Amino acid sequence: SARVVVLISGTGSNMAALLDAAADPGYGAGIVAVGADRASAKGIVRAQQAGVPTFTTPFSDYADRARWNTALAERIAEHRPDLVVSAGFMRILGPEVLSRYPVINIHPALLPAFPGAHAVRDALAYGVKVTGATVHFVDEGVDTGPVIEQVTVRVEPGDDVHSLHERIKAVERNMLVGVVGRLAREGWTLEDRHVRLGSAEPGPTPST
Ligand code: GAR
Repeated sequence: SARVVVLISGTGSNMAALLDAAADPGYGAGIVAVGADRASAKGIVRAQQAGVPTFTTPFSDYADRARWNTALAERIAEHRPDLVVSAGFMRILGPEVLSRYPVINIHPALLPAFPGAHAVRDALAYGVKVTGATVHFVDEGVDTGPVIEQVTVRVEPGDDVHSLHERIKAVERNMLVGVVGRLAREGWTLEDRHVRLGSAEPGPTPST
């Protein structure tokens, strides 16, 4: 099955959902390591309890972004992943990592709306009635990579950042589990920003 390294910064509820899914051998992906950019990331404990190797590469231990990215890439490489999943990982990955592995990210808004670290707050402040979550391939921009899958969530009267984010998290983890499983089982091709699941025969370019 496909070897997956998951990167987290905090709670790791998306990572935990992937661990649960990967317990089924038919899932097609195994979580071979969980990495964090800070020692205090709570999800690291959850991964350790599940018996999954973990590593921490604190941003503040390195002189600059490139050196941190290089160190992170080396830690990831020890686990020989086929796919890297950024799941609540709140740092921007550089070419040191992105040139070596396909990386996907889960983002709590309907990209290209509300990129960045405060997507839920920004969507609420804007006053949108519908928001959601996006799984996308990571490129060198901030939340600009090709979209793989999206799901919508309605903003309810009286929502605050916490209540809205919790509703988004409930649906985003299901979407992430579905996407990682399909990428692992079926492979994918990428053509002109369009992601096509299944790698056997690249199909015609999707019509616009
Ligand atoms: C998730 O909602 C994820 O979409 C978001 O952080 C949360 C992490 O939760 N990611 C971003 O905002 C990335 N810009 P988790 O640690 O419980 O999985």
